[in-house]
Amino acid sequence: MGVPRSEAAVGITTTRTLTSSEAVVERLRGHIRRRTTDLADGVWHEPVDHYLDGARFESELQVLRATAVPFCPSAAVAEPGSFLARDAAGLPVVVVRDRDGELHALRNVCRHRGAAVACGAGRAPALVCPYHGWVYRLDGRLRRVPDAIGFPDLDVANTRLAALDAFECHGLVFVHQRERTVPPEFDELAGVVTDDFAYAGSAENEQPVNWKVLVETFLEGYHIRHLHQTTFFPIQYDNVNLVERFGPNSRVTFPFRNIERDFDTADPMAVRGRLTFVYHLFPNVLLVTFPGRVVMVVLEPLSVERTRVLTYRWLRPDGADRSAAVGLVDQGTAEDFAVARTIQHGLDSGANRHLHFGRFEGAIIHFHQTLDAALGTRRPQPAESEYGRWT
Ligand code: FES
Ligand SMILES: [Fe+2]
Repeated sequence: MGVPRSEAAVGITTTRTLTSSEAVVERLRGHIRRRTTDLADGVWHEPVDHYLDGARFESELQVLRATAVPFCPSAAVAEPGSFLARDAAGLPVVVVRDRDGELHALRNVCRHRGAAVACGAGRAPALVCPYHGWVYRLDGRLRRVPDAIGFPDLDVANTRLAALDAFECHGLVFVHQRERTVPPEFDELAGVVTDDFAYAGSAENEQPVNWKVLVETFLEGYHIRHLHQTTFFPIQYDNVNLVERFGPNSRVTFPFRNIERDFDTADPMAVRGRLTFVYHLFPNVLLVTFPGRVVMVVLEPLSVERTRVLTYRWLRPDGADRSAAVGLVDQGTAEDFAVARTIQHGLDSGANRHLHFGRFEGAIIHFHQTLDAALGTRRPQPAESEYGRWT
C-alpha cells in the first residue's frame, strides 16, 4: 500500500534548525493522512560526465579536503593510546588519543622517508614507523631515532608528524585537512548517538561506483516500494519523507508504519523506534538511525569509478537490534548498492546525458547544488528543466 502523491504537498524545510521529534511525527502523520510528501520546487539534471570525468573527480577531492568531515566515532578512539588510520579524500590520516585524552589528527607519513607510521586501528604507547623504527609520541612529536648519528642535521626536538585539524562533536571525530578558519556548527547532531548506544565496530567494502552515486542511494524514499519490496517496504512507507537541510547538510526522515499508532511523541527513544533519520553530512558521510542502532557510513572516493565504503556501528546494549533487524539493514543496503553498480555501468553507454532527479529527491538536489557551489561551477540547468530552487 504505497501512498499516491498529491499535488498539495508541504514544502521542504530550509531553516538551520531541524524540526523537533514531536513535530517530525506530526508532520509525517499529516503526510500519511493527506497522501503527500515533502517536495523540492524543481527538478535537477546532473550531467553524466560528472560521474566519469577524472578532472572533476580531482576537484571534488579538493572539496573533501577543504571540509570538516566526520572521520570516525569518538568511541573508536576512546582509550589513551588508541589510534585509527585510514585514507581520507585519498590522503593518509591517523587519529590518535594521547595519554591526557586529547585527540590528534596527523598525516600518516613518516618524516624519514615517508612510510605510513600506523596501520588500521589499535592501541600503542607510541607510533613506531615499521620501516626504520623512528618513534613518535602520541601527539606526533618525534621521540627517538635509531642510530641517530646517521642524521647529524636532524632536530629531533622540533620534528613532528604533520598535524591536521581535528575536533570532536556529539560522538564523532571530525578532521579538516586544510586550515580551518571558522569552526563549523553541528548542533543538529545532538542526541543522534546517545549514551543508550555502545560502539560496536566497523566494516568496509569496495564498490565499483562513483562516490556520488552511493551518496544518492541514501537520500530519498521514492524507491522503497520497488527496490526494497521484502526488506524496508513491509515496515516503512513508500515515498513519505521529510527533507530538511542545514547548511551544506541535509536530513531525510523515513517513517515506519507503526508511526500511526499511539506513543509518547515527547520521548526521543520512542520516536527513534518509529522512524529512520538519514543525516547527510556534506560531502561524503551519512549518519543513519534505526530503532536499535546508529550507522555512520563514510564513502571514501578511491577513483572516479571506485569507492571504499566504511561503516561504523553503534548498537543498543539491551540487544534490541541484535536479531532480525541486523540482517534487514544489511540486506537493504546491499539492494541499494547493487542498483548503484548498474547505474555506474550504464553511465558511459551514452544513453543518458543527464541523470534526472525529481521533486521527491530534494536532498540530492541540495547535495549537487552545494557541491557545485563548493567547486565554483554553478551551472545553468537544461532548458527543459525547472531549476532546482528552494523556497
Ligand atoms: S620511513 Fe619511517 S623510519 Fe624510515
Ligand atoms: Fe534504499
